[in-house]
Amino acid sequence: MITASTGSTYAGVLGIGSYRPRRVVPNSEILEQIDSSDEWIQTRSGIKERRWASDDETVLMMSVNAAKDALADAGIDPAEIGCVIVSTVTHLYQTPAIATQIAVAVGAPTAAAFDISAACAGFCYGIAMANDLVRGGSAKYVLAIGVERLSDITDRTDRSTAFIFADGAGAAIVGPTDEPGIGPVVWGSDGTQHKVISQKESWQEVHGNHNWPHLTMDGNPVFRWASFEMAKTAQQALDVAGVKAEQLDLFVPHQANMRITDAMRRALKLPEHVKVARDIERQGNTSAASIPLAITAMREAGEARSGDLALIIGFGAGLVYAAQVIRLP
Ligand code: UT7
Repeated sequence: MITASTGSTYAGVLGIGSYRPRRVVPNSEILEQIDSSDEWIQTRSGIKERRWASDDETVLMMSVNAAKDALADAGIDPAEIGCVIVSTVTHLYQTPAIATQIAVAVGAPTAAAFDISAACAGFCYGIAMANDLVRGGSAKYVLAIGVERLSDITDRTDRSTAFIFADGAGAAIVGPTDEPGIGPVVWGSDGTQHKVISQKESWQEVHGNHNWPHLTMDGNPVFRWASFEMAKTAQQALDVAGVKAEQLDLFVPHQANMRITDAMRRALKLPEHVKVARDIERQGNTSAASIPLAITAMREAGEARSGDLALIIGFGAGLVYAAQVIRLP
């Protein structure tokens, strides 16, 4: 007989943190390299400005800052972290994972540590796995990070992507709780659409010409898929958690496009009192980092409070998606 692991009956998000790069990049700077207008960018995406990382704001540095912020918020000893999950598509090394260096830097040097590639759904994927690890007994506490330096892989002369992508990091500590703090995840993928957001060339193809493998996006099909299909996924996440729209305090979708956020808000028939994350206006689309960045922005603005019920949903390249209801620490 093998002894099976047993964990906590329930898990929850105990702390959230983020790191915003210092440099603010207004639309006017983007317009130096693409044929567009401030009005087009704002109307089509909702973005007024974004943050791009400077040289010292590496994936490691931003992650460690966000993680320390989350650890302080949770008030736990970093040595108790049993696993570090990092969602990123911009740690530009095939191996090793950036998670192991982050584990050392935050004070959890022997924690299990690995990266995942789930693009803009990455934070919700990380929370789902962390929830299961804690409840299954594989880790007491899990540090889940979403981090991107998308400015590194964005072609600044490509007008379909140059204005949208940005940089930053967010982190959450997941651990045991007395009440359920994370609802069941509704997640999945649609690999038939793998080409609509993808790296242009493989590493092998770029080898030798010293170009970065830039990201390409056929935005409109993604826009339509996200606006219609993702509202259904978000509704399912509410249903499986047994939470009604009127019981929610916050709606924090991946910050992909303000029009997608509004389309989902309408489809979900969210009542007026539910506060909706609109961090994209100032932060741009930071993929896996966007949800924790948006939550910390709402906290700073006094819109989000401890104990609030939030519906979160991530969706992006793959295509992949994940949604769940969480209670804020
Ligand atoms: O983060 C993970 C997943 N990503 C997303 O969820 C992003 C989803 N997609 C989007 O956010 C939107 O598709 C964009 C903001 C990227 C584009 O908005 P759109 O309303 O889908 O525009 P479109 O691609 O359908 O283009 C509309 C028009 C076209 O001109 P015509 O054919 O109507 O004359 C484009 O050529 O706008 C033109 N256009 C631009 N015009 C000015 C495309 N890019 C630009 C630009 N500036 N940067």
